[in-house]
Amino acid sequence: MQQVNVGLCGLGTVGAGVVKILEGHADEIKYKVGCEISIKKILVNDINKKRDVIIDSSWLTTDPDELMKNPDIDIIIEVMGGIEDTNILLETAIRNKKHIVTANKDLMAVHGQKLLRLAKENHCDVFYDASVAGGIPIIRSLTDGLASDRIQKIMGIVNGTTNYILTKMTDEQLAFEPVLKEAQELGFAEADPTSDVEGLDAARKMTLLANLAFKMEISLDDVEVKGIRTISQEDITFATSLGYTIKLIGIASINKGKVEVSVEPTLLPKDHPLALVKNEFNAVYVHGEAVGETMFYGPGAGSMPTATAVVSDLMEVVKNIRLGITGNEYVTPQYKTQLKLNEE
Ligand code: NAP
Ligand code: HSE
Repeated sequence: MQQVNVGLCGLGTVGAGVVKILEGHADEIKYKVGCEISIKKILVNDINKKRDVIIDSSWLTTDPDELMKNPDIDIIIEVMGGIEDTNILLETAIRNKKHIVTANKDLMAVHGQKLLRLAKENHCDVFYDASVAGGIPIIRSLTDGLASDRIQKIMGIVNGTTNYILTKMTDEQLAFEPVLKEAQELGFAEADPTSDVEGLDAARKMTLLANLAFKMEISLDDVEVKGIRTISQEDITFATSLGYTIKLIGIASINKGKVEVSVEPTLLPKDHPLALVKNEFNAVYVHGEAVGETMFYGPGAGSMPTATAVVSDLMEVVKNIRLGITGNEYVTPQYKTQLKLNEE
């Protein structure tokens, strides 16, 4: 195989980052996957919009069929957002034997299990590492690096926008609304930031992590969620005066087969490692029976960090295509070797 062709859905904050990495790191990517990766089509809302990334204008389309049903396209990268309509598009793509890479936690938290099953039936990959904690490879770590362990608890900061707001309210005494606007301008917030500030974005991410870690099918309805909308400057000043910091903390744990998932503003001693996570950065503790406690830290939102995770997933899919082992959810390197040995 000389070349793998990609259809990109969305050319906003994350999509533009994906184009930049595919172009800027083309040599390294080709060396690592062993073939060219080429963008064929880009689905957008408005083909005349001014973009901050240089692309061939003939790639742009507003017709999803030019991607989902295009026989020349092997992989769909979905970075446009949305749930129901996007789900229908991706189901069409999978039925047309396209592999999927997505950063869409909203979609994966609601339809992920169904999409993964459909993909398996069609021998397609669905990878979604970018959907949780931006540039931190937390999904890959759960499915790969920590695969041999029994995960007991996951706890951390998984929303960049609210952490940005809380940091600025705490360190610079800024008001909620202007800082939210700043987070939107920086590309951290969702198109509708309600899901960030009400804790729903973090709840979706914790659901995805819990399902992977505990091999369950937990639904969003099972998650207890409280956001940060009602936190006032007075609350923050009072917490600071007592030596505490307020952070939006997600917790997922399993005890005797019972899973509990919650997201809520939490008081942390100001020298707690999670209290020191600032701005859009995320941090996730994973406690495993054998490994003990591990901590993952890094940029949880934004164009290039998120695009890094998207393109790394894309490379994984390309490697799977080349090995002929697609359709095996998060294939670990060890399993890849095993599959290859079985084939020989
Ligand atoms: P964004 O900046 O708003 O970009 C969305 C892009 O999708 C735009 O190019 C838009 O087209 C296109 N689009 C949206 N709806 C469409 C539709 N129905 N048909 C065709 N094109 C459509 O969003 P983003 O921040 O890049 O986020 C994209 C996805 O990544 C979301 O699922 C988000 O939750 C996820 N994510 C974002 C981040 C982050 O830090 N931003 C991090 C992790 C995950 P136009 O440009 O023509 O308007
Ligand atoms: N809106 C999300 C956040 C983007 O602020 O964390 C990354 O998923």
